[in-house]
Amino acid sequence: MDIVIIGSGNVAAVLGRKFNAAGHHILQIIGRNAAAASALAYEWNTVSSNYLSAVNRNAGVYIIAVSDEAIPEIIKDLKLPGKVVAHTAASVPKEVLKKVTNHYGVFYPLQSLRKEMKGLPDVPIFFDGIDELTKRTLEKLAHSISNVKVVEAGDDARLKLHIAAVIVSNFTNHLYALAEEYCRQEGLDFRQLLPLIEETASSIKDMSPKLAQTGPAIRHDKETIQKHLDLLNNHPQLKNIYLLLTESIQQVPDWSGRSK
Ligand SMILES: NC(=O)c1ccc[n+]([C@@H]2O[C@H](COP(=O)([O-])OP(=O)(O)OC[C@H]3O[C@@H](n4cnc5c(N)ncnc54)[C@H](OP(=O)(O)O)[C@@H]3O)[C@@H](O)[C@H]2O)c1
Repeated sequence: MDIVIIGSGNVAAVLGRKFNAAGHHILQIIGRNAAAASALAYEWNTVSSNYLSAVNRNAGVYIIAVSDEAIPEIIKDLKLPGKVVAHTAASVPKEVLKKVTNHYGVFYPLQSLRKEMKGLPDVPIFFDGIDELTKRTLEKLAHSISNVKVVEAGDDARLKLHIAAVIVSNFTNHLYALAEEYCRQEGLDFRQLLPLIEETASSIKDMSPKLAQTGPAIRHDKETIQKHLDLLNNHPQLKNIYLLLTESIQQVPDWSGRSK
C-alpha cells in the first residue's frame, strides 16, 4: 500500500519501520519537528514535510500518529475525501476524524513502542473503521505487519483495553523505576532483580496472575511486612505504595491453588 505517516514520534517511527519492512511504500512523512521527520524520511528513502498543507494526496492510507490531544488540532484543515485515514490512539473516538474523510478509522498498536527500540517488536493491532472499506483496508494493513493478533475493536472496547494496558505496562514500569531509585539510594544493584522480573512476567503466560501471586502480603506475614515498613520510613512515596498494594493483595478473595 502507499502510505503517508503524520507524526514523527515513537509510534510513527516503529509503525513506519514495520510498514517499510513489510514492503509498503511510505510516500511521505509529515511532522512539525522537521529534524525528526527528515531523519525518518532518510531512513525510509522517502520525503518529509513539516506542513500538513503539503500532504501528498496520492496515498491509499494516512496514519496519524500524534499525541492524543493534538489530533483535533492538527486535522482542523485536513481534507482527504475518499482516502482511508486512521489515528493510532486507544482512547480517542474514531469520530474525531469524520470531517477529514468518509473513510475514517483507528489503527491502535497494543504495545509499548519507543523510537530507539533495537528490533521490531511483535505488535497486536486493534483496528476500527466507519465502513467496510476502511475496516478491510486497515485489517489488511495490520495483518501485513503483525504476526500476533489483529482484532476489530470499537471505541468503548479500546478505551477499556487501554486502562488494562496502562496498569500492566505503565504502572508496572513505574514500580520498576521506584525500585531502581530505592536500590540506588540503598547501595543495591537493581540489575540483580532482573531474573525475578523476567520469571514473574513469564509465569503468567501459563497461569492466571492471581494464582502466581507470592510474597509476604498474600502469606499475611505480619512481622516481615512491619520490618519492611519500618525500613521504608526514609522512602515515604514507596512506603505509601507498599501499604496500598499490600492492602490490595490482602483484600482479594481467597484464591485457592495459588503458590506462596
Ligand atoms: N508509544 C506507545 O507505546 C503507543 C502505543 C499505542 C498507541 N499510542 C498512541 O500513538 C499516538 C502517538 O504516540 P507516541 O508515543 O508516538 O507519541 P510521541 O512519541 O510523544 O510523539 C508524538 C508526536 O505528536 C507530535 N505532536 C504533539 N503535539 C503536536 C501538535 N500540537 N501539533 C503537531 N504535532 C504534535 C509530536 O511532535 P514533536 O516531536 O514536535 O513534539 C510527535 O511527532 C498517541 O495517540 C498514543 O496514544 C502510543
